[in-house]
Amino acid sequence: MVEKILITAALPYINNVPHMGHIVGSHLPADIQYRHAIATGKDAIFIGGSDQHGTPAVMAAKQLGVETQDLVDKLHEVHKKVYAKLNIAYTNYSNTANPNHHQFVQEFFETIHRKGFTSTEKRDMYYCENEQMFLPDRYVIGTCPTCNYEAANADQCEECATVLSTGDLIDPTCYSCGEESHFKETEHVMIQLGQLTDTIDSWVESNKDNWRPHVYSEAKRWINEGLKSRSITRDMDWGVKVPLEGFNDKVFYVWFDALLGYASFTQELGQEVFESYWKNPDAQIMHFLGKDNVPFHTIFWTGMLQAHGELNLPSSIIGYNYLNFEGQKFSKSKGVGVFCSNLLTSDINIDSLRSYLTTVLPENRDSDFKWDSYQAVTNNELLGKIGNFFNRTLNFTWKNFNGNLNGATTNPQDMADISLVSKIHEMPGKISTLFEQSKFRDAYKLVLEYASEGNRYLERKSPWKTIKTNPEKAKHALYLALQLAKSLTIVANPILPETMNQVWTEQLGLEGTPGDAGRWAEATKLNLPSNHPIHQPTHLYEKITDERLEQLRTELSKPHSLEQIVKE
Ligand code: MF3
Ligand code: ZN
Repeated sequence: MVEKILITAALPYINNVPHMGHIVGSHLPADIQYRHAIATGKDAIFIGGSDQHGTPAVMAAKQLGVETQDLVDKLHEVHKKVYAKLNIAYTNYSNTANPNHHQFVQEFFETIHRKGFTSTEKRDMYYCENEQMFLPDRYVIGTCPTCNYEAANADQCEECATVLSTGDLIDPTCYSCGEESHFKETEHVMIQLGQLTDTIDSWVESNKDNWRPHVYSEAKRWINEGLKSRSITRDMDWGVKVPLEGFNDKVFYVWFDALLGYASFTQELGQEVFESYWKNPDAQIMHFLGKDNVPFHTIFWTGMLQAHGELNLPSSIIGYNYLNFEGQKFSKSKGVGVFCSNLLTSDINIDSLRSYLTTVLPENRDSDFKWDSYQAVTNNELLGKIGNFFNRTLNFTWKNFNGNLNGATTNPQDMADISLVSKIHEMPGKISTLFEQSKFRDAYKLVLEYASEGNRYLERKSPWKTIKTNPEKAKHALYLALQLAKSLTIVANPILPETMNQVWTEQLGLEGTPGDAGRWAEATKLNLPSNHPIHQPTHLYEKITDERLEQLRTELSKPHSLEQIVKE
């Protein structure tokens, strides 16, 4: 039976342009996982989309003096284009604006309500007398009781990631007018997470060995603090309407709505597809997300799913740490960082960026984007190892044999050949295991090591020497090198899809793509026929000179104005 895997990337809030942190914390790793899954013959789909609700979008629109819907519509397009530019191969990149999503959320709610997992509660909420409105979490700013950060939001402290409840903040004020905020009574619908403590806890425990340690310990921290009922409605009108009498003027809490996007966006692909991933007990669901999203996915989301009882729980929750920029936090206001909207007008080689970002994926700890390292990784690893290997093999074959090694065999003739053939048999499987375990940094290291094997082989065989004395020997070595080239294209493809497709089609002259369903099985085979003609090779990557680096740095760090994007 073909394994079914649904891969998701956290739905970005679209109150701003995409952030490099989100690229490395969800879209890129999810894309790599997806491409690997497809190539290894899994029945995989890749789901994501824009999280258009929530207060930040309302706040951003208010500041710009535009309609919230206009702002998010424009930003949705920018996000979509940026992910496309980075070759993030979503099966469906959707939007929580879709009517199907609204309906899905309402029906989901009705089910958990019917099953008795909700309650209503009158409680005091932050209220601004000045503006005569209840203040959603993000409208309230105050001091974090855990770390004393002064601009913490009412629901979570950005600085230390502590999740906060109403009343936790010290000196709460209204974000929009600066007025001290008071409490006023309102009534909300709650989800009774407390009732689900044992189920959630045993599920978390069953994943202990399977999750990264920081994901597990974050989930346990929440459980140990005691799971309480959490309100799932808000006093605002931007969001999914609550279909319950007495609450019709409220909307669902943005997390309750957004998480369900994973399911509703799958449903957009058809009811049958939906059921085959969300109701089929053999299907796996893998979520990729940043560390501030971990508690929402491990506890809140699985609590929602367990209350509902009819959909699959995720099998993997892959949390990423933060990406800093040259030792500092990314900051739009200070112009510190790489701003992804600039990618749309840049001619940067996208695979050089994916290559570098893969080497700094914050898998186990925070990591740092450094332009100097981008230059070093591109020149020494990507170009020095992968580019160089393709270039030497293909160029030499093209120039000396008109691109055709007709008559050559793969039979090993010496120790170097034996060792190369055994690498082709072994390496793709080892690389595959690392991809499967979502250890993408290590997978890429091994891909580079595989290219280095090829380079060492060429050095040892020196076809540029034997071509003069024993052309058959040169031909034989190139033929084996070409087998490795084809195999390398397949295994590097999840990380470097654009250039590997280019090698595959334009240079190796092969049919299909290196990422086609089930293609991975060919990576261990020496099955390129000797009379297969290759095409004229070209350079895949450009060396990054200091001048070019400066240019990229300037171009991509250009602060963008949200205002401009909206008014365009
Ligand atoms: N919009 C949230 C963020 O950017 C993530 C939502 S993930 C989802 O932090 F699953 F809820 F959609
Ligand atoms: Zn804090």
